[in-house]
Amino acid sequence: MVTEHEAMGRAIALAARGLGTTSPNPVVGCLLLSPEGEVVGEGFHAYAGGPHAEIVALAQAGRLAKGGTAVVTLEPCNHTGRTGPCSQALIDAGIERVVIAVDDPTTVAAGGSDTLRRAGVEVETGVLRAEAEAGNIAWLTAVRRGRPHLTWKFAATLDGRSAAADGTSQWITSPAARTDVHGLRGTVDAIIAGVGTVVADDPQLTVRNLRDGTCAIRQPLRVVVDSSGRTPETARVRDATAPTWIATTAELGAGPDGRTDLSALLTSLYARGVRAALLEGGPTLAGAFLAAGLVDRVIGYIAPKLLGSGKSALVDAGVGTIADAIELEITDLTQIGPDLRFTASLRPKEA
Ligand SMILES: NC(=O)c1ccc[n+]([C@@H]2O[C@H](COP(=O)([O-])OP(=O)(O)OC[C@H]3O[C@@H](n4cnc5c(N)ncnc54)[C@H](OP(=O)(O)O)[C@@H]3O)[C@@H](O)[C@H]2O)c1
Repeated sequence: MVTEHEAMGRAIALAARGLGTTSPNPVVGCLLLSPEGEVVGEGFHAYAGGPHAEIVALAQAGRLAKGGTAVVTLEPCNHTGRTGPCSQALIDAGIERVVIAVDDPTTVAAGGSDTLRRAGVEVETGVLRAEAEAGNIAWLTAVRRGRPHLTWKFAATLDGRSAAADGTSQWITSPAARTDVHGLRGTVDAIIAGVGTVVADDPQLTVRNLRDGTCAIRQPLRVVVDSSGRTPETARVRDATAPTWIATTAELGAGPDGRTDLSALLTSLYARGVRAALLEGGPTLAGAFLAAGLVDRVIGYIAPKLLGSGKSALVDAGVGTIADAIELEITDLTQIGPDLRFTASLRPKEA
């Protein structure tokens, strides 16, 4: 027997298995409990166009769902898209109580709770809301702001350097940290880099197994922010491993500095179905995104090394005085091999 809180914890963990494959949909997990509190079905949304979490769990439970409780991380959908409305499927299966963590913020799919209540189903919302929101932060941020959730990831020494005085930078962090980055890439829909990094380092920007070099089947869109289209024809980002978009001013227009308009870039990515994007730098582009208030999260891999001189991990980010420093809240600190990985969130700039 499990409590509804325990069931929600499990549903949140299940939902996370869909990270990286559900966009433009959210990640969702669901547990079905019998009237005695036994788990009779569980499921998660694995990919866009595939069955929703509730439908997977109902199929597993079969007739055992009747009279039971559904514990769902996101309000069951109320609309017919590529699949039918989950609220109706729960009613048809004889579910008597639905426990929800987060209400659906979209106008298209919301209303599931009302449909359930009208059919006489007891509905409770807000159970483990903060945990479930954190698990779905990319999708929730994206649909609320109409642009992808943006994580700036960088690697640096303890004194904040991303390259030595002679320009060498491979490698600042350990193989363990670099493997972790490939895991992170696997959870996003797009990887963004500036043309400066593409010219300097010629990165491939793919999700790979660093031991044998094999590429993952699903690859995020590679985006090179390149005002005048100077990405070399032979650049590895142009290979056939993954789709690539060279984002120029000709296509997106120019921002105030005459370079690619970053807001237009993110709006365009959202329209292409991108909900989670990873900004891999370099320091100029990262500074521009930060100055524009378009970064939601920072993940830093900090190596226990000192370089003294050399390139800074971040250049102009629109901060001229200490009072204007961009403030972060650290939400996770983990040692990865010899390195430290911190995760921190930013508050959006007021318009
Ligand atoms: N340690 C790390 O985590 C890390 C990560 C990445 C890179 N790096 C290092 O960073 C170095 C490259 O630095 P970088 O600053 O030249 O590269 P960058 O930030 O990747 O690229 C900067 C370029 O992006 C283009 N751009 C287009 N639109 C822009 C906009 N709105 N705002 C700002 N830039 C825009 C500009 O070129 P156009 O004007 O021609 O468009 C600009 O010069 C390399 O040495 C690399 O090793 C380090």
